[in-house]
Amino acid sequence: MKRIKILVSQCNQGTVLAEDVKSCQGTTLVFKDSVLNQYILDVLIAYGIMYVWIYTLDDLDQRNGKITENGNLTDQIEPIKQSHAEAVLVVKQVLKELAVGKKINYTKITQISKSVYGNINNLNVIRCLNSIKDKDEYTYTHCVNVAFYAMLIAKWMNLPKDEIKQVIQAGVLHDIGKVLIPNEILNKRGKLLETEFEIMKNHTLLGYFSIKDLTEINSSIKDAVLSHHERSDGSGYPYGLLSKEIPLSAKIIAIADVYDAMTQDRIYKKGVNPFEAFEMFQTIGMSIFDIQVLNVFLKNISSYFTGLKVILENGEKAEIVYVPPYEITRPVILKGSTFVDITKPNTKILTFE
Ligand SMILES: [Fe+2]
Repeated sequence: MKRIKILVSQCNQGTVLAEDVKSCQGTTLVFKDSVLNQYILDVLIAYGIMYVWIYTLDDLDQRNGKITENGNLTDQIEPIKQSHAEAVLVVKQVLKELAVGKKINYTKITQISKSVYGNINNLNVIRCLNSIKDKDEYTYTHCVNVAFYAMLIAKWMNLPKDEIKQVIQAGVLHDIGKVLIPNEILNKRGKLLETEFEIMKNHTLLGYFSIKDLTEINSSIKDAVLSHHERSDGSGYPYGLLSKEIPLSAKIIAIADVYDAMTQDRIYKKGVNPFEAFEMFQTIGMSIFDIQVLNVFLKNISSYFTGLKVILENGEKAEIVYVPPYEITRPVILKGSTFVDITKPNTKILTFE
């Protein structure tokens, strides 16, 4: 048995929820996979919640998220960082070979996929991705990040293992067409001219044509390479497809791609924090991305931010103690013993520790 139901009064800080917790009115108070802390326990008590489902310690061991005596997840971040760094090196090698006209080394892509998949149940994946900053190797880091985020979305959607692995490969390969786009356009700082943007848009078709005849590559991966810039309202490219015409793998990669591109720092601009990205997804995102995939993404990813240490715009350190499921853009942040209102000047989340 991997989950047990226990009294809230018996929960310790560090316990990980195995089910969403809802109020008697049906409002979700805490998402599954959240790590309990004193603030969340107080919320549950205030709402009169008696019992919660939690993971057993044995199950958490299997999920590489062991809890220490003081209630923190143990530092299981290093193995993820290592497989991420290895994947970045391999992606770099594969893309460089492709740029000089060699055939894509698909064996290496499947190796990356296996290695990324090895972290699927690690509760620290999001924490790890938040901490990886590599502006210089952005192109390659981005491909690997997208592979990780896409894996999580596919897992949260309960897709079968084979499809999750295909989605990871699609993440790695989604922008391969960019190796054929001139560097001055690819690395231009600031907005592209209309003519430059038209050339940039070709990366979807160029990427697709470079793999379309390779029988070892699954069609869902080719679909994602071709269609990850298509948008549900028909405003995307290359074909302006509508939602029902866009393959699922492309819809997953689109969200993973935009989320990572928004939140990563570039040489010429700082990325937005995840909560600002959630806000964009909840506003304009709703009409351009697949609503079901987007809801799965937002619901699940937001639960992983509780407990993360942040640095605010004013340089102060603080901790995210609660992300209300009904308002995921407004995390509760504690600095010492005082709460921080992140909408006030200078208190925006600048980065994660
Ligand atoms: Fe792209």
